[in-house]
Amino acid sequence: MNDKQIVASEAAKIVKDGMVVGLGTGSTANYFIEALANRKKEEGLQITTVASSTISAIKAQSMNLFVQSINQFSKIDLYVDGADEITPKLTLLKGRGQDLVMEKLLASAADQFIVVADKSKLVSRIGEKFVVPIEVLPSAWQIVKLELEKTGATGDIRLNLNKDNIAITASGNYVLDMTFPPNLSDQSLNSVLNCIPGIIEHGIFYDLTSYVLLSDNGIIEKMYPI
Ligand code: A5P
Repeated sequence: MNDKQIVASEAAKIVKDGMVVGLGTGSTANYFIEALANRKKEEGLQITTVASSTISAIKAQSMNLFVQSINQFSKIDLYVDGADEITPKLTLLKGRGQDLVMEKLLASAADQFIVVADKSKLVSRIGEKFVVPIEVLPSAWQIVKLELEKTGATGDIRLNLNKDNIAITASGNYVLDMTFPPNLSDQSLNSVLNCIPGIIEHGIFYDLTSYVLLSDNGIIEKMYPI
């Protein structure tokens, strides 16, 4: 098993009978879906899942997991997902997969949000390795971009894979991929982005993580915010 599989299997052990479980998106979340489906098959676990993306819903259904729409719930028991960056305070950068809105909704609606990752995701600050994805109302993208540039940010609208059109998110919006000055703290960046009209959601997950299960060459560490 690789490090992502190891933490995904560990997270699947936390799931209890009767739980409503949020499924993340990405390779580590996929391993979690497989481990959960295995537990259901072997132990007859009765669980309901809610997916953060269509691709995860398809995978879960193909593995015989029961997938419900989020509109059936006002809260969920557990959400397990990967991340693109993780700081020492367990602020996350997420959203490469363009499913930001549902990912943050599930993270905030969950009693417990557990992040599964390998060591490569650790950073000292948000934006160290990746641009910050900001999902915007299509008609507002230029207004939002100018507002972001006033903070010293640089970046542009995300294009599709062929680079011949604008990328559209699962919620039908555009994405601005921005780089911010390194002196802006995760907390201030989160507050700034929360307040700009036209921003639907952004990739900074601040104060949402319960804990991180991190695997480094097979050794699992449980990290709490410092
Ligand atoms: C999906 O939108 C992201 O937030 C993922 O959680 C992230 O890209 C992690 O992916 P891996 O598990 O494949 O590294």
